[in-house]
This record gives sequence, structure tokens and C-alpha cells, in this order.
Amino acid sequence: MGSRILITGGAGFIGSHTCLVLLDAGHELVVLDNFDNSNPEALKRVEELAGRGALSVVEGDVRQSDVLDQAFRCKGPIDGVIHFAGLKAVGESVADPLRYWDVNLNGSRVLAAAMEQHGCRTLVFSSTSTVYGEPDQFPLTEELTTAPVHPYAQTKLAVEQMLQALCRSGAWRVACLRYFNPVGAHPSGRIGEDPLGIPNNLFPFMTQVAAGRRERLQIFGNDYPTHDGTGIRDYIHVMDLAEAHTVTLDHLLKQPAPSILTLNIGTGTGLSVLDVVNGFEAATGLTIPYDLVERRPGDVPRLQACPERAKTVLGWTARRSLEEMCRDGWAWQQANPMGYRKPA
Ligand code: NAD
Ligand code: UD1
Repeated sequence: MGSRILITGGAGFIGSHTCLVLLDAGHELVVLDNFDNSNPEALKRVEELAGRGALSVVEGDVRQSDVLDQAFRCKGPIDGVIHFAGLKAVGESVADPLRYWDVNLNGSRVLAAAMEQHGCRTLVFSSTSTVYGEPDQFPLTEELTTAPVHPYAQTKLAVEQMLQALCRSGAWRVACLRYFNPVGAHPSGRIGEDPLGIPNNLFPFMTQVAAGRRERLQIFGNDYPTHDGTGIRDYIHVMDLAEAHTVTLDHLLKQPAPSILTLNIGTGTGLSVLDVVNGFEAATGLTIPYDLVERRPGDVPRLQACPERAKTVLGWTARRSLEEMCRDGWAWQQANPMGYRKPA
């Protein structure tokens, strides 16, 4: 039988794909989102793709306990929570750290307090591979020392620590998932990543160049100590990441409390920026014009997961290839040139 799950930030990029996978697995969902960085249209399309309407939406801010009360009361007792709601732009976190501490840490604190109050102590939290800072040992295992170098990653690590403390103090079951670089889209092309303004991240920028919306890709740095000089990341198909959430939640719901789990969610494969550009060209038959430019401040040469713990504990591994990431990301971009907004 399905569970009843509260998804904060469920209208966002990773949240919307996860909602679809959860609906397909038979769960009932309550989505809490203030649509700060997303569009309600994403949730309509999720229901359309799932072919059922088992998703209720509470529009509001995760920092407000009355909004959380509404979410917890909306359908009946909640079995578990997946907490995506948060801010994720590194540069913005350097410029406005207080906002990041407020939304990311305080938002998680208010959520955890509401969970206690409503007797729900099972939580999956969106953490990030950037908690490892600038590591020099690869692949990255979860035991490595964390050393976040910007407020965004610092807030995520602080939430991990708060949740660990909760597990020490009571009957909580928590999983902190450290995502590597999620890309791609659902293969239908109906839901995908919809950044506002100029994309910061490689994949959406590249697909917008392919679509002619931007002229050229700037490749930030070609003098890194990597096989071709460009930065290496562990890119993971967003559907693989979404599936990791259902598996994690099913696992947690079977665990005796207290239980705390910290897991890398990546493929284990490191790809350079040029590997990605070449892979995209091969998958789509398109050409991506690019310039090699200066390094972007704050970028690290390499991030690459050791995904073994997730495999051992959950039996989960990423299955989709770079070709599928490119094909599905491109299908989404082509079908939705302006994302969820209507073209002018
Ligand atoms: P996203 O911005 O697409 O989704 C976040 C969602 O949270 C959005 O729908 C937004 O409207 C909502 N939200 C933001 N602040 C809120 C608030 N105060 N109250 C209620 N809702 C709020 O981002 P995403 O890429 O889907 O990322 C989801 C989570 O995963 C974030 O916590 C992010 O930090 C984390 N993460 C993302 C990546 C990545 O590369 N995309 C990598 C590591 C970790
Ligand atoms: C960035 C954030 C990270 C966040 C993630 C998802 C930084 C320093 N890190 O990760 O904290 O979790 O986004 O939001 O911002 N690149 C180009 N040209 C571009 C864009 C990127 O060459 O136009 C390169 C980058 O230098 C990097 C790689 O592509 O080597 C991946 O970049 P990106 O997609 O922005 O992800 P991260 O930097 O890993």
C-alpha cells in the first residue's frame, strides 16, 4: 500500500521528477511550495503524466508553521517528508548569506519542529556534494572530511548536523542525500529544469545554446589538472536521482528508529566539460559553439562520487547514460523553449 508523503519544494526541478516517480509507485502526495523558483504548471504536468490526481498543493513558505500545519492536516497523517525546498545558487549565497541561512537552515528547523508536533519523524533531506569543499582524494566517500567553502554548502552541512542531533535525541529516521550534478529531464519532454534568467549551470546553458537562445557556451577554465584541462563533475540523470528518493524513503520507513543515513547520490563517473559537450553533440547531431575562458571563481577542479554506500544500503545505482541525459534534456528544451512560461 502507498504512503502519504509531504514534499517541500516539490514543484522544482528535482522535486517535480520525484513527485512523478512517487505517484507512479502508488504514493499519495502533499506538495508544499512557495513557487519562488518554480511554476505550478510543473505539478499539473506531473499529474497528467502520472494519469492520476493524488497530489494536493499547499502554496506557502516552509518557514511558516501555520503553512506546515495546513500541509500536515491537508489529507491525514503524513508517513514521511522529502525536503527539497531551499535556495541553491552559490554566487547568490555569497552575496546574501543571511537569506540562505534563513531559508535553508531556519526553513529546515521550522519543518522539523512541525514534524515533531505532528508525530512524523521520517525525513529525506536534499544535501549537496559541495559539502566536500575542494577535496583532493577521489572518488569521494561519505567519511571524508567536509569543508564547505561557501554559505550555500555551509547551510546544507548545518542542516545535516541539526538532523544528526535530532536522531541522537529521539526516534527520528533521517537520510541526507548528497546529490552530485543532476541533469536531463523526464523522457516525455513534459517536465524539466526551468532556470529563471541566464542559467548558471552547464547543462541548461548548453541546451539554450543548442536552441539558439544563447550564442555561445563559455567553458570556464581549460587549465585544471584534468585529462583535457576542463572541470570534472559527476553528472546524474534527474530520473535516476528521483528514483533514489523513493528507494530511500521505502528503506527509511522499514528501519527501526533512530536511524541516520548519509549517502552520496551520483554515478561514480567523472566527466569533463568537453566530454559533456562532445557527448551532447554526438547524442543530438547538433554543434555547440564555445569559447574557452577564464576559470569561474569558486569552481573546484573535480567532484566525483563513490556511490558504493547507496548501492550497498539501498540496492540503488544510477542506470542512465550521458546519451540519455543529453537526449532527454534536449527534448525538454525543444518542446519548451521558454520553460513553463508561454513564448512571448
Ligand atoms: P529548485 O529551485 O528547482 O527547487 C526548489 C523548490 O523549492 C522550488 O520549487 C522553490 O519554489 C521551492 N522553495 C524555495 N524556497 C522555498 C520556501 N521558503 N518555501 C517553500 N518552497 C520554497 O531546485 P532543485 O534543483 O530542484 O533542488 C532541490 C533541492 O536540492 C534544493 O534544496 C537544492 O539545494 C538541492 N540540491 C540541488 C542540486 C542541483 O544541482 N540542482 C544539487 C545539490 C543539492
Ligand atoms: C554548481 C554549484 C553547486 C550547485 C550546483 C547545482 C558553483 C561553484 N557550484 O555546481 O554548488 O549545487 O551548481 O546548482 O556554482 N561550466 C562551464 N560553463 C558554464 C557553466 C558551467 O564551463 O556556462 C562548467 C563549470 O566550470 C563546471 C561544470 O561546467 O566545471 C559544471 O558547472 P555547473 O553546472 O555550474 O555545476 P557545479 O559548478 O558543479
